[in-house]
Amino acid sequence: MTDLNALEAELTQAIAAANDVAALEAVRVAALGKQGSISGLLKSMGAMSPDERREKGPLINGLRDRISAALNAKKAGLEAVELEARLLAGRVDLSLPAPPRRKGAVHPTMQVMDELIAVFAEMGFAVAEGPDIEDDWHNFTALNFPPKHPAREMHDTFFFKPGADGERRLLRTHTSPVQVRTMQSQEPPIRIVAPGRVFRCDSDQTHTPMFHQIEGLVIDKGIHMGHLKWTLETFVARFFETDAVTTRFRPHHFPFTEPSAEMDVRCDRSGGEVKIGQGDDWLEILGCGMVHPNVLRQCGIDPDVWQGFAFGLGVDRMGMLKYGMPDLRDMFASDVRWLEHYGFSATQAPNPASGLS
Ligand code: PHE
Repeated sequence: MTDLNALEAELTQAIAAANDVAALEAVRVAALGKQGSISGLLKSMGAMSPDERREKGPLINGLRDRISAALNAKKAGLEAVELEARLLAGRVDLSLPAPPRRKGAVHPTMQVMDELIAVFAEMGFAVAEGPDIEDDWHNFTALNFPPKHPAREMHDTFFFKPGADGERRLLRTHTSPVQVRTMQSQEPPIRIVAPGRVFRCDSDQTHTPMFHQIEGLVIDKGIHMGHLKWTLETFVARFFETDAVTTRFRPHHFPFTEPSAEMDVRCDRSGGEVKIGQGDDWLEILGCGMVHPNVLRQCGIDPDVWQGFAFGLGVDRMGMLKYGMPDLRDMFASDVRWLEHYGFSATQAPNPASGLS
């Protein structure tokens, strides 16, 4: 039979000598683990005669309880010491100056989007939206693009793999499908603008694969090109915050408008940057036209009763022009330094009362 007093002395000594939690754990395993010395004694009690057990049992159990209590006490002590050391090492000097913090800002595209919406809201336009992922019908067919027509390729469309129904879905190439969705879901008269993301497989200084457009649509009785021209000229003057804007309409072609036009604004490029409202140059800023009767018919509107005009323009491009940003690709590079320079205050949302910018 092991000498209980000697074992107790040895374990007490080992507990006292353990100077970290891991060393103490090793002592615990050696004494109370499955193969531990005290565990062995406890097991041996099974083979003892009742008399012997009556005598040795309390001694062995007492040893176990004392060693166990000593282990727990030492563990609590060691943990407190380790915590103290960690707290000391992780000390923060609150008198140090804070590191410079980058401030968030409203992205110019969102600022311009808000400005555009504010201008059109003032003219009585509501905001409409549609999905970024479209089907061929809304993006092309309903807009009078004939099937297999090369105009579909003209848009450098991003197509998805055909689905179970054999249909190829796509990332919308323009906001014009929102015209279709709005005419299908609302009764005329209609007056909406539809801002949103559009996608084309294209990238250079003035093109990015994703950019933003705002679409306009007016459907009413007796609508003609004069309404279109007044609306767009008024909009350009409000947006660029000057009355000096001169515009020019050039004939163009879009499958979904007839007649179609592109609108240019007079500008000056002599100083390297574009200045609106002066000079002898012209800058194309948007596409527009009278809604094609086929589009009205596709959307269940009788072209003999209702007419309309539509327009679409690049939001990011308008921002580049108004705020002098030279490269469209920087807009989407997510560089905080760029955003700090070109960004806008979140507390100064554009509205017609306090001004646009
Ligand atoms: N959807 C055309 C484009 O992306 C713009 C446009 C909209 C033209 C509405 C006419 C009418 O180029």
